[in-house]
Amino acid sequence: MNDLFKSERHGCSEETPQTVLVTGGAGFIGANFILQARGAQWYNVVNLDKLTYASNLQNLTALENDSGYRFVRGDIGDPELVSHLLEQYQPDAVINFAAESHVDRSILNPLSFALTNVTGTLQLLETCRAYWQKLSPHKQGRFRFLQVSTDEVYGSLSMTDPPFCEDNPYEPNSPYAASKAGADHFVRAYYHTYGLPTLITNCSNNYGPRQFPEKLIPLTILNAMEGQLLPIYGDGQNIRDWLYVSDHCEALHLVLQQGKVGETYCIGGQNEQTNLMVVEKICTILDELLPSKPNFSHSSLITFVKDRPGHDRRYAIDCTKMNRELGWKPTESFDSGLLKTVQWYINHPQWVEQIRTGAYQSWIEQNYTDRTANYLSV
Ligand code: NAD
Ligand code: DAU
Repeated sequence: MNDLFKSERHGCSEETPQTVLVTGGAGFIGANFILQARGAQWYNVVNLDKLTYASNLQNLTALENDSGYRFVRGDIGDPELVSHLLEQYQPDAVINFAAESHVDRSILNPLSFALTNVTGTLQLLETCRAYWQKLSPHKQGRFRFLQVSTDEVYGSLSMTDPPFCEDNPYEPNSPYAASKAGADHFVRAYYHTYGLPTLITNCSNNYGPRQFPEKLIPLTILNAMEGQLLPIYGDGQNIRDWLYVSDHCEALHLVLQQGKVGETYCIGGQNEQTNLMVVEKICTILDELLPSKPNFSHSSLITFVKDRPGHDRRYAIDCTKMNRELGWKPTESFDSGLLKTVQWYINHPQWVEQIRTGAYQSWIEQNYTDRTANYLSV
């Protein structure tokens, strides 16, 4: 075991998994989870991340001198590296955040999603199984593999459907959703076939600090701050259920500690918003925080553009099980969470500067150039 982690493990209770291998921890949710986990002393963390375009190690500079945190660059699909890390750090749990996560990119390049989200997760499961099978029965019983998944595996709701819950059948519609569904099926199979103690969470849309600005909320904030058009796909009436990222991280911690192995937990914000409402709220916040020209409203930048192919109409999550069994519910209101998020982007120009590299610009051109032709601002 790693010496630096050893001394701290003695002080922890038997019940709590003390060291966690987090994959994809340099991305949006993973980084927020690690910062929260170290801040609250939930776990010592080993962070394995391939450092794709969506990652940013600046997210974790606060932990540079933290003896309970290690970063390792690498791929979840690399069995030699992962088994070495498992042997070295002997984690009590693995939390798999690593993924290609953007639906629009999955439409343009589906194979990379199959490679990381399906094959990568399968390889990670297989490597974990080999490690887990060599543990003592006591440690085997305490080990957990937590798969961080999405509500998108359930497909799309009509306006009158009840929100998704754990019993909904999988009906993924985008290549991204299909790849996450494939991964979830393998996780389930590893529990049923080998007894690997797995947990799956299916969460709705997250927002908050450190999200890569290809996703709706940070893209809108940064475009509006720069006076650029705010692209809304289709009629802007698609609905998402927005959850502040720290609420998601709390939920994951609870599932890891108290969730029943082999089970699935739906996590959501109880906060359904149309895309147009979200963008308008951001504009109102920016009008107050960054008043620029007299009589200028950021909402004048809103532009309806060509829709996403196969665009799911509505997602919503029923988190009754999380509440009933684990006592969890979202705590951040959308108004306060969105305000904090906008303020975070305003206060972190260096983070924004670093992330908006040439590769980011070419993605924006690839995704939006054809969409905006022939479409008008409101
Ligand atoms: P993200 O794109 O911001 O971060 C993904 C991270 O994974 C990046 O740091 C990337 O470098 C890393 N990664 C990618 N491929 C890897 C590989 N092969 N090996 C190791 N690391 C790799 O994603 P996010 O928004 O933080 O989402 C994290 C997880 O949560 C994903 O699995 C996603 O499907 C799931 N999820 C996201 C949301 C959301 O709203 N963002 C909601 C529900 C579930
Ligand atoms: O539901 C959980 C999922 O939420 C996660 O699993 C995904 O990883 C995450 O990316 C997110 O998927 P969405 O496709 O819902 O998120 P995105 O931010 O890309 O889009 C949110 C909504 O806004 C969606 O209806 C599409 C729309 N949209 C998005 C962009 C980028 C626009 O109208 N304009 C845009 O420019």
